[in-house]
Amino acid sequence: MIPFSFDLLHQDTRTQARRGRIHTSRGKIETPIFMPVGTQATVKGLLPEALKEVGAQIILANTYHLFLRPGHQTVQDLGGLHRFMNWDRPILTDSGGFQVFSLGQLRKISEEGVLFQSHLDGSTHLLTPELATGVQEALGADIIMAFDECIAYPSPRDYVQRSTDLSARWARRCKEARREGDGSALFGIVQGGMFPDLRRKSCEDLLEIGFDGYALGGLSVGEEASVMYDVMEATLPHLPHDHPRYVMGVGTPENLIEGISRGVDMFDCVMPTRNARNGVLFTSFGRISIKQARYARDEQPVDPACGCYVCRNYSRAYLRHLYQSGEILASVLNTHHNIHYYLDLMASARSAIEANSFVEFKRDFYHQRATH
Ligand code: GUN
Ligand code: ZN
Repeated sequence: MIPFSFDLLHQDTRTQARRGRIHTSRGKIETPIFMPVGTQATVKGLLPEALKEVGAQIILANTYHLFLRPGHQTVQDLGGLHRFMNWDRPILTDSGGFQVFSLGQLRKISEEGVLFQSHLDGSTHLLTPELATGVQEALGADIIMAFDECIAYPSPRDYVQRSTDLSARWARRCKEARREGDGSALFGIVQGGMFPDLRRKSCEDLLEIGFDGYALGGLSVGEEASVMYDVMEATLPHLPHDHPRYVMGVGTPENLIEGISRGVDMFDCVMPTRNARNGVLFTSFGRISIKQARYARDEQPVDPACGCYVCRNYSRAYLRHLYQSGEILASVLNTHHNIHYYLDLMASARSAIEANSFVEFKRDFYHQRATH
């Protein structure tokens, strides 16, 4: 078994962008990386083979959903999440600290944890740091996230302060609850809302406990993009260079490029998958909505600059037809293209960092969008 580790391979000289490599017992992850979201033990619309074809190195799954259905014990008895879903590359699981707040009903937060009602059947559950950790271990995750509270925006400073302190105490309990020796990693989650000093304090508290990696939570919760970038800039310098940094639930292609510039290594977001199912496609010249009448007789691929299976084989006209007809294949092909776009963008960013040309890459990225 290869224990979890992170190598910082190259630091850009003109930005904070970094090129790194994570080692896990299920293989390497080249960073910066985007992780497709597979909430219910499936990246909606994609076979694992297709995920590999587009170059997915790691995917995300959710504690909250799999705990409620089919149950982590069931998944463990069936040989773990990797076997259950036929995915042998790394999996990161979110702790439920976000979903319990966005999906659970009648939440009651206490020192112990969060009492909530299932969005499926109304049953009551107490999710604690110990349980969230145990569920993620039972699933067999390669990267486990600490249990935290994702703070709503805007929130008063005193609430943010108390919540961030509580998340730090929960993070310590997650670390103490860890079953040793399965080779998985535990990441802490920095909170602190949009207050730079509280973000810094959160970093210091987590560093004292010590984690394998550090995530920024509580972002992309309704704040302006410029505020999110300011929070990244105010927070990342307080995190160690020799551990991976992960911004949770972010974001647009622009958000990813800006995050990479500021030193982020990992991202996840439902944006490429959810948008695909709504007919919104990401391209090198910006987003397009495939339902528009202008594509009815358009023989071009979605993005002439894209080399994905969809762009090599299908026209915009066909994709529009599938979408308008409510066909399942519309979601499948749209998701395939969008995930390919996101992962290709990350691969290009990695090459640019290695070649010391990330600044030029970023300039071209914006230029292509502006001139279309
Ligand atoms: N996903 C997006 N934001 C967050 C967060 O703040 N905490 C957790 N656990 N997951 C998230
Ligand atoms: Zn494509």
